[in-house]
Amino acid sequence: MDLYREIILDHARNPRYSGVISPADVDHEERNPLCGDRLHLTLRLGEDGRIADLAWDGEGCAVSQAVASMLSEEIIGKTLDEVRAIGKEEVLEMVGIPLTINRVKCALLALKTLIIGTRGLTEWQSVEDEE
Ligand code: FES
Repeated sequence: MDLYREIILDHARNPRYSGVISPADVDHEERNPLCGDRLHLTLRLGEDGRIADLAWDGEGCAVSQAVASMLSEEIIGKTLDEVRAIGKEEVLEMVGIPLTINRVKCALLALKTLIIGTRGLTEWQSVEDEE
């Protein structure tokens, strides 16, 4: 448990893939409705269809920032089809510590931004409703 906390704090303090890239193939921002915090994702695909570069900016708590950073390491180099395999469970496993319901929204903000930005709102609603 402590190891997971350390990993989250490390990502929150030293976020990987922080910033904005331009031009971008995906440029999307979402907010956590509970707190108003926002994450903005820019992402570029290579000619092979794989995620060649990406960056996040915005404001949010340590959990939301850390997940954006961890998720980036997970998806860089993958195709958008491969990224579809990452759902709510995978992200909560990445976090690795029990979260309150409100904190789950924080943890899922990056996934929400990624899914709505690449696949649309309907897809996100089906992922969010997964048990
Ligand atoms: Fe706003 Fe966590 S408190 S995203």
